[in-house]
Amino acid sequence: MSIPNRDSFTSKFGVIAAAAGSAVGLGNIWKFPYEVGQNGGGAFLILYFFFVVVIGLPVMMSEFVIGRKTNVNAVRAFKKLSPNKPWYLTGVMGVAAAFMILSFYGVVAGWTLEYIHLAIINAFKGQSPEELSKGFNGFITNPIKPVIWQMIFMILTAVVVIGGIKNGIEKITKILMPVLFLIIVLMGIRSLTLGVNTSESGEIIGRSVDGLKFLFRPDFSKIDIDVVLDALGQAFFSLSLGMGTIITYGSYIGKNNNLKKTAVEVAFLDTLIAILAGVAIFPAVFYFNVAPTEGPGLVFSVLPSIFQKMVGGYVWTLAFFVLFAVAALTSSISLLEVAVAYFAEELKVKRVTATIIVASLITILGVACSLSNSVLKDVTILGRNIFDTMDHVSSNFLLPIGGMFIAIFTGWAMKKSEFFNELTNQGAIKVKLFSGIYFIIRFVAPIAIAIVFLYSVGLLG
Ligand code: PHE
Repeated sequence: MSIPNRDSFTSKFGVIAAAAGSAVGLGNIWKFPYEVGQNGGGAFLILYFFFVVVIGLPVMMSEFVIGRKTNVNAVRAFKKLSPNKPWYLTGVMGVAAAFMILSFYGVVAGWTLEYIHLAIINAFKGQSPEELSKGFNGFITNPIKPVIWQMIFMILTAVVVIGGIKNGIEKITKILMPVLFLIIVLMGIRSLTLGVNTSESGEIIGRSVDGLKFLFRPDFSKIDIDVVLDALGQAFFSLSLGMGTIITYGSYIGKNNNLKKTAVEVAFLDTLIAILAGVAIFPAVFYFNVAPTEGPGLVFSVLPSIFQKMVGGYVWTLAFFVLFAVAALTSSISLLEVAVAYFAEELKVKRVTATIIVASLITILGVACSLSNSVLKDVTILGRNIFDTMDHVSSNFLLPIGGMFIAIFTGWAMKKSEFFNELTNQGAIKVKLFSGIYFIIRFVAPIAIAIVFLYSVGLLG
């Protein structure tokens, strides 16, 4: 069954903007820098690259193929391709992951709105990274303020999703993504050219080049199975894979789009922006002599200090936090869309109704995440608070497992020719290259994910 008059993207650039908009988000600007910081810099980066190319890219191609071939939501897509089999549960798991991810995602995105507000009133002026760090902790442990911002952010997300694909998602990402790219490049340049920081008595406090060394020089002693699992989880999270986001977006893509090329472009842009975020932040971290292991507050406490050093710092600060929020928004709409497409199409309710209900439920879950930094901080599940549990379970378990099933599905439950034709638009690919991709999807990706996973839960090794 296909859905009559289903909404769709109208241009190639629109597809890239929306898919890259989904991929590029808090994962790149907020999570990637602190994961790199906590997990040994360059060594984490190498693992991350490896997973993006060897597992992420083939899984992304699979998701695009499943979506465009079926033109329905992520649950029905599996039902359509493989009726009467339990594959559709992969889609169900994806919808569950959308709820979990967007719950904590909306909280962090809300923080970016507070920081826009602080930037407007010039609250960072003259503050050192330590003071900024204190301010950040004070804010996130406040029980009220972050919740209000989270709700405002969820309303913005819902408004775009109610607008639909071409008049909502495509329209907004086409404008916002190029601007985001420009700002992050300029920030990287500024951070790199900070140079050497000296105290009044001439002592060296820090050097920006040390940040680059940290980012690119691998320290393999930091690598253990948890770091490997984090790198795998981060690859899935950052590329928006394993939960049907790309299946859902793929379902709105026209038949003339070359999906292989689109997948490569999206993965490339996402990785590039993560690296640029690293280049913007680590030289500054070392220049100001802040601990790179600081964790989730890293970006919030370090970046405003760089801006103080820049001509026109006020404008930069504001521009950065606006774009931080924008990156979050173009991703959160894709998370919400997975669940909305499912409920709207399956329960046959209007898009607006589905959006309001789903967004409200996720917001409630999100309030619990936000409060786990304050009044609910003693509520823990296996040693993690609610916020961290949502992040850990979704990124490190649901997404990789979802990705594994998606790869197995494409490699074993779909016909090879079906996959080939959908991926390549009837043959515009070298046969050898296609065979390589197909081999990875059938064997390498599922086995690699299974091994990392079994190790991490202690069943291997
Ligand atoms: N890729 C997004 C980011 O990096 C997060 C995301 C994950 C979006 C999964 C959709 C699905 O911020």
